[in-house]
Amino acid sequence: MFLTNLKSASLGLSLLSSPFITEAFPSLEHRQIPANATGVTTIKSPTGVTIRYKEPGKEGVCETTPGVGSYAGYVDLAPNSHTFFWFFEARHNPETAPLTLWLNGGPGSDSLIGLFQELGPCNVTQDLKTVVNENSWSEVSNLLFLSQPLGTGFSYVAEEAGSLNPFTGEVENSTYGVDGEYPYNSSSIGTSDMAAMATWHILQGFLSALPQLDGKVQNKTFNLWTESYGGHYGPAFFRYFSEQNALIANGTTTGTELIMDTLGIGNGIISESIQAPYYPEFAVNNTYGIKAVNDTVYEFMKFACYMNGGCLDLCAACEQVNRSTDVGQQYCFQATDQCRTNVEGPYYSYSGRGVYDIRHPYKDPTPPTYFVKYLNLPYVQNALGVNLNYTESNNDVYYAFQRTGDFVYPNWLTDLEFLLNSSVRVALYHGDADYICNWFGGQAVSLQVDYTHSAEFRAAGYAPFVVDGTEYGQVRQYGNFSFMTIYEAGHEVPFYQPLASLEMFRRVLGNLDIATGGVPLTGTYETTGNANETHTEPYVPIPSETGSAFAATYTAAITNPITEVPAESLAPVSSASPAASASTTEVHGFVRREINLS
Ligand SMILES: *[C@@H]1O[C@H](CO)[C@@H](O)[C@H](O)[C@H]1NC(C)=O
Ligand SMILES: *[C@@H]1O[C@H](CO)[C@@H](O)[C@H](O)[C@H]1NC(C)=O
Ligand SMILES: *[C@@H]1O[C@H](CO)[C@@H](O)[C@H](O)[C@H]1NC(C)=O
Ligand SMILES: *[C@@H]1O[C@H](CO)[C@@H](O)[C@H](O)[C@H]1NC(C)=O
Ligand SMILES: *[C@@H]1O[C@H](CO)[C@@H](O)[C@H](O)[C@H]1NC(C)=O
Ligand SMILES: *[C@@H]1O[C@H](CO)[C@@H](O)[C@H](O)[C@H]1NC(C)=O
Ligand SMILES: *[C@@H]1O[C@H](CO)[C@@H](O)[C@H](O)[C@H]1NC(C)=O
Ligand SMILES: *[C@@H]1O[C@H](CO)[C@@H](O)[C@H](O)[C@H]1NC(C)=O
Ligand SMILES: *[C@@H]1O[C@H](CO)[C@@H](O)[C@H](O)[C@H]1NC(C)=O
Ligand SMILES: *[C@@H]1O[C@H](CO)[C@@H](O)[C@H](O)[C@H]1NC(C)=O
Ligand SMILES: *[C@@H]1O[C@H](CO)[C@@H](O)[C@H](O)[C@H]1NC(C)=O
Ligand SMILES: *[C@@H]1O[C@H](CO)[C@@H](O)[C@H](O)[C@H]1NC(C)=O
Repeated sequence: MFLTNLKSASLGLSLLSSPFITEAFPSLEHRQIPANATGVTTIKSPTGVTIRYKEPGKEGVCETTPGVGSYAGYVDLAPNSHTFFWFFEARHNPETAPLTLWLNGGPGSDSLIGLFQELGPCNVTQDLKTVVNENSWSEVSNLLFLSQPLGTGFSYVAEEAGSLNPFTGEVENSTYGVDGEYPYNSSSIGTSDMAAMATWHILQGFLSALPQLDGKVQNKTFNLWTESYGGHYGPAFFRYFSEQNALIANGTTTGTELIMDTLGIGNGIISESIQAPYYPEFAVNNTYGIKAVNDTVYEFMKFACYMNGGCLDLCAACEQVNRSTDVGQQYCFQATDQCRTNVEGPYYSYSGRGVYDIRHPYKDPTPPTYFVKYLNLPYVQNALGVNLNYTESNNDVYYAFQRTGDFVYPNWLTDLEFLLNSSVRVALYHGDADYICNWFGGQAVSLQVDYTHSAEFRAAGYAPFVVDGTEYGQVRQYGNFSFMTIYEAGHEVPFYQPLASLEMFRRVLGNLDIATGGVPLTGTYETTGNANETHTEPYVPIPSETGSAFAATYTAAITNPITEVPAESLAPVSSASPAASASTTEVHGFVRREINLS
């Protein structure tokens, strides 16, 4: 069989562990450890869950709209389970507005990325102040942000003074210097299915205390919106939540019963085996007419995808094995490595263009990350009820998922089919300029989903998505299922198109057609239009090294390409798992990896 004694030389440099990184460890300076927060209120729910919280809006942090409540702090489920939450009342009628949970991806990337850079009630300016976002999705829904799995953002299993290893990004103890207080022991959750169970308990804990926390909020209509690696989280979580909810409904178990309404996934990676072939295609043929890699690199990417024992073969093997075993997970890990390094990765090494926006340079200064500095200010930490330093992506969590090969598991597609078959509303949307979860791959997933109305969905045409007379994208919709592109948007769609994104969210939650917002949705509603999305945008030259706002960072990117990994909701391709049995030898600056799966 093709898997025995497979040897593969990997030329795709991985971003995190490149031997080009020679940066010395920083000096062991002692910086300030955050103080314990003051004025924290503790409540205990009837089911015994402890919630510690503050009201940051009252201290001028984030949601300062008069009369609109916001609560931040921890759901403590056990001595080793402390999940950070930030809950925002809807700006209008929070009593009757639905509840939406927002999750970013990674894995290990924090949901506060979405809060501050995308759809939350505020964002952070260069002078480290918050500004109210008039296009916040809290215009439509109550919003709950959870930092998950444990170790992500301000959530923790345990905490300890230490520092981040500049090479691996992992948390290290005080032996290696102290520059803050960090989550510790963060690698206990390594699959999306484990995260689904954990998050269900956290959500139930939060809901059990909600009447005491904010008695105003009554509506049990529940939505989950997520992004990027959320293409795994979304289907896995919503399915698990639906199944548990059914057990509550029929009295098998206890808890807060929800009305499972919509699942939204922005630029999601749902099925690697469907989406992988579109990395090479999108790199040379996209909405912007950009050819980002030459034919040699393009052919290499395609070959790595389709060759015997390549990405797709390895994905198929991962599908066959028992993924609950170490051996099975090794297969899936190898598939992940091959697909990400050699099919997806060459674009990062050779295009000079953005991971999350093909119009931008590799080292992309947008969206700005001022919020990370903001969350490390003592008064902000205190207002949020935390005593931890903030990192937007936790690499311990990332590596834990990488080791299991969760990235290429096949079951998220089945979960999506399960949800569509049970009439959950599912909205897939893709910014048209994103490479890492590009819309070609997203469209392919939408067309391959096998559910009760897939034939009708495939037969529906693309209609323009129009808001106030402006076309912002195209949508294919049949009943409860939709796929859409959003023009001139990278990975984090609401950052690039805030107004259109809010309107999309309002229409989906409001049970209206996405194209116009004027037609109440029925089970047989369908869009009409072309079978193919053929919209084009003007070519964008790679920003020059002089005379542009990108210049300084772009120069830094090409002279020192890998010292800073763009930390976003889906971390880009990274190194081989330290725990994997693949042995690596450094040969003239390249990583040569001997893969032995026999
Ligand atoms: C950690 O937070 C404290 C404020 O409580 C801050 O002084 C310190 O610089 C932060 N550390 C890092 C690495 O940001
Ligand atoms: C915070 O409180 C804990 C006890 O809850 C204590 O052990 C710790 O020393 C305190 N940290 C600081 C920085 O005061
Ligand atoms: C809850 O929200 C949904 C969606 O907006 C709405 O249709 C429903 O009427 C609301 N229910 C209550 C009890 O307010
Ligand atoms: C904050 O939001 C405004 C309005 O959407 C936007 O123009 C600005 O670029 C955002 N700034 C940051 C730092 O995200
Ligand atoms: C981390 O986990 C290990 C093993 O469970 C335990 O021995 C150690 O005390 C934990 N560290 C902290 C800071 O909780
Ligand atoms: C710090 O971690 C190292 C292993 O990485 C361990 O050997 C050492 O005992 C730890 N030191 C403290 C103070 O916990
Ligand atoms: C409750 O629902 C679950 C799943 O829907 C089913 O397996 C179980 O048999 C039901 N239990 C009862 C008591 O109806
Ligand atoms: C580019 O992609 C479009 C849409 O997928 C396709 O119709 C077209 O044939 C492709 N062009 C080339 C040169 O591959
Ligand atoms: C294609 O690009 C690669 C990477 O930049 C380069 O090494 C190679 O020489 C190029 N091939 C051609 C034919 O230009
Ligand atoms: C897969 O492995 C798990 C853990 O060893 C085991 O419990 C399960 O029965 C196996 N499943 C199959 C189908 O062999
Ligand atoms: C969903 O329905 C389709 C068509 O009826 C069926 O082929 C598929 O197996 C179903 N999938 C799940 C997970 O229920
Ligand atoms: C148009 O879309 C269909 C699927 O709807 C696809 O099979 C076909 O290849 C596309 N045509 C072109 C030219 O891209």
